[in-house]
Amino acid sequence: MSYPEAVKIVEVSPRDGLQNEKQVIDVNDKLTLINGLRAAGVKNIEVAGFVSPKWVPQLADAKQVCAGLVDDGVTQYSALTPNMKGLEAAIDSGINQVAVFTAASESFNQKNINCSIAESFERFAPVMDKAHSLGIQVRGYVSCVLGCPYEGEINPEAVADVANKLYDMGCFEVSLGDTIGTGTPLKAKTMFELCAQYVPVEKLALHFHDTYGQALANIHACLQSGASVIDSSVAGIGGCPYAKGATGNVSTENVVYMLNGMGITSGIDLSKLIQTGRQISGVLGRKPNSQVNHAMS
Ligand code: HMG
Ligand code: MG
Repeated sequence: MSYPEAVKIVEVSPRDGLQNEKQVIDVNDKLTLINGLRAAGVKNIEVAGFVSPKWVPQLADAKQVCAGLVDDGVTQYSALTPNMKGLEAAIDSGINQVAVFTAASESFNQKNINCSIAESFERFAPVMDKAHSLGIQVRGYVSCVLGCPYEGEINPEAVADVANKLYDMGCFEVSLGDTIGTGTPLKAKTMFELCAQYVPVEKLALHFHDTYGQALANIHACLQSGASVIDSSVAGIGGCPYAKGATGNVSTENVVYMLNGMGITSGIDLSKLIQTGRQISGVLGRKPNSQVNHAMS
């Protein structure tokens, strides 16, 4: 059994974290969050979603958020783009890395992006072409990899099939989303290893929500199978408005604490990260959903 020496953290709090909040967060607060993450050494930050403002009003300010981003030459910003309209808006906003998202569950896909899995790939084809013609990298997400709020158990073969298609289509990285956090370590490992038969292991990312407190255990299990990219969210904020009951992403503080303890480099300063987690939690009017953040007060 071996662990990676270093891990890439993809911070999703400004997008996944804030899309599920009841209140709409002010653009300046979003930018303070993003700049706090940068100051903590986070190099990959998903800052916005160019999705329908009717579907996700919390992200309707994507253009303004992108206009306020600091280009420090180090941080890679990215944004969700479900279709050509989203991609065009992302391009106009100067974003040079985008993400398409689909699912291993037909029912969830209908609820989330109003189309079947096959139709989602038809939508993505021109997005990939245009993005690549401009040198824009495209990430791919698969949702419901360890369970669906509408269909229950999901066959790992279905996950691997969608992951394989996203990679074949030209996604530079495929993120495996346990959208509702129902996964447990052995199932996560089995699913991850199956996906790694189709997509190079270093191109797979773990995107685990923590609804049942299993996310760190799931990540640990997959690290043993070669995972080296982890999506997480400071203060454990997050969730999908179209996945009832889904709570936050695994907290970045908890992930970094675990990695530090295992001698795995993430390049992130935990104490600065903790401050950022407290800052955004203050804006949201609650305490960070992160044991490490509480313990290190
Ligand atoms: P639709 O209604 O099927 O789209 O929505 P449409 O093409 O028929 O257009 C309908 C209206 O939306 C039109 O406006 C379009 O212009 C507009 P109207 O004429 O009614 O005024 N529209 C757009 N507006 C802004 N940006 C766009 C856009 N596209 C169309 N890109 C659509 C399809 C995909 C747009 C919609 O279903 C949608 O926006 N869904 C968003 C879902 C979402 O953001 N979910 C959360 C993110 S995914 C997630 O959290 C999971 C993840 O974290 C991984 C995990 O945890 O599993 C990634
Ligand atoms: Mg998510």
